[in-house]
Amino acid sequence: MEHYAVKGGNPLSGEVEISGAKNAALAILAASIMSNETVRIDNVPDVSDIRAILRAIENIGAVVERVDRHTFKINGALIKDAPIDDDYVKKIRGSYYLIGSLLGKYKRAEVTLPGGCNIGLRPIDQHIKGFRALGAEVRVEHGMIVADAGDLQGAHIYMDVVSVGATINIMMAASMARGMTIIENAAKEPHVVDLANFLNSMGAQIKGAGTDVIRIRGVERFHGTEYSIIPDQIEAGTFMFAAAATRGDVTIKNVIPKHLESLSAKLMEIGCQVEESDDAVRVVATKRLNHTHVKTLPYPGFPTDMQPQIAVVLGLSSGTSIVTESIFENRFKYVDELTRMGAQVKVEGNTAIIDGVSRYTGASIMAPDLRAGAALVIAALAADGFSQIHDIYYIERGYEDFPEKLRSLGAEIECVETEREQRKFEFRAG
Ligand code: UD1
Repeated sequence: MEHYAVKGGNPLSGEVEISGAKNAALAILAASIMSNETVRIDNVPDVSDIRAILRAIENIGAVVERVDRHTFKINGALIKDAPIDDDYVKKIRGSYYLIGSLLGKYKRAEVTLPGGCNIGLRPIDQHIKGFRALGAEVRVEHGMIVADAGDLQGAHIYMDVVSVGATINIMMAASMARGMTIIENAAKEPHVVDLANFLNSMGAQIKGAGTDVIRIRGVERFHGTEYSIIPDQIEAGTFMFAAAATRGDVTIKNVIPKHLESLSAKLMEIGCQVEESDDAVRVVATKRLNHTHVKTLPYPGFPTDMQPQIAVVLGLSSGTSIVTESIFENRFKYVDELTRMGAQVKVEGNTAIIDGVSRYTGASIMAPDLRAGAALVIAALAADGFSQIHDIYYIERGYEDFPEKLRSLGAEIECVETEREQRKFEFRAG
């Protein structure tokens, strides 16, 4: 099996370009089939989750033309009323966005229950509550969600929990319902705003995305559009924390610094220098960093998708840090692997108590999910000696050219398949 071979110890330095946001792209690609006219989407990241959703929409009759590596033309005029139940879709979380888009356009959807990272229970009751409020009948049968509506009627919907997925799904269905929908306690994440902007560019009438009240006046049909996806906040954050962990100096380009504020604030608090310009941020760490407390929260709070990466950095910082996970209940699975690299972390419920050590040592470790996998790569880059990171298919779900981008910053990392290739890497890296 392919794995990453890493030799740690090099401070990362230089410039790195951030790709389009995976989670925005999943929603936008699902929404793109709502128009019968051609939609051109740019800045689509080339990662396996995106390949899965593209295949899913192609399988139900969308015409998908790849213009270049990051640009697609999609036409959803010939979508068939077929259940969406392929192995690709089962693996990704974003597949459930096809329920919202198909229900909005055709008033009917039948989609396999979503997969994605195993970081907790991940119920979809709020999605179902929203679809029902719009007048759909929703049932779960044989592992599929079936949503049916003679007519979708706008409604006033109060979300019991702040959910990115439910906000996006309801927004899509409501944008083609009759009349006005108001979503209260909506998620405010950048990709919620990006999807609203995309839908509006096709003729939707959505106001308030980015606040906790979103107002959607339904329209009958969408037209074609050209749209460029926002940069990936979490990929950018991962490189920011990689710079911090390796005591490097990295300029992260093609970002929206506003989306990174909670990350920049924590990095400055622990002793990094962070410089922002229009579309870049530079992170410099010259000395051992300090401890802090951090709690994950919905946007604009500290993102749960950055929790493992900050924990890796705090594991090398002086003093005792406390990391509280308030979004998902099972997001500390990486701690066992980090401990094998020398970290001192105790998990109690949804809190990790981290006693900073002065160094990690390389080890053979498994990526337990997408973001924790990337965090363990950061740990390996900061560690003394060689590491192997296995189960990298998790990381490839959401990071485009991860080893290549890290190598361009001076990291010694390679994707290798056999023991022989591993030994060759170790010989070369000395
Ligand atoms: C999305 C992101 C994921 C990120 C998460 C939180 C995608 C494809 N994934 O996941 O990377 O970690 O947002 O920023 O964009 N909940 C319910 N009922 C529901 C829906 C959610 O109780 O119907 C709960 C969840 O269990 C969780 C919390 O709400 O505790 C937030 O989940 P949600 O925002 O929906 O996450 P996802 O959309 O699955």
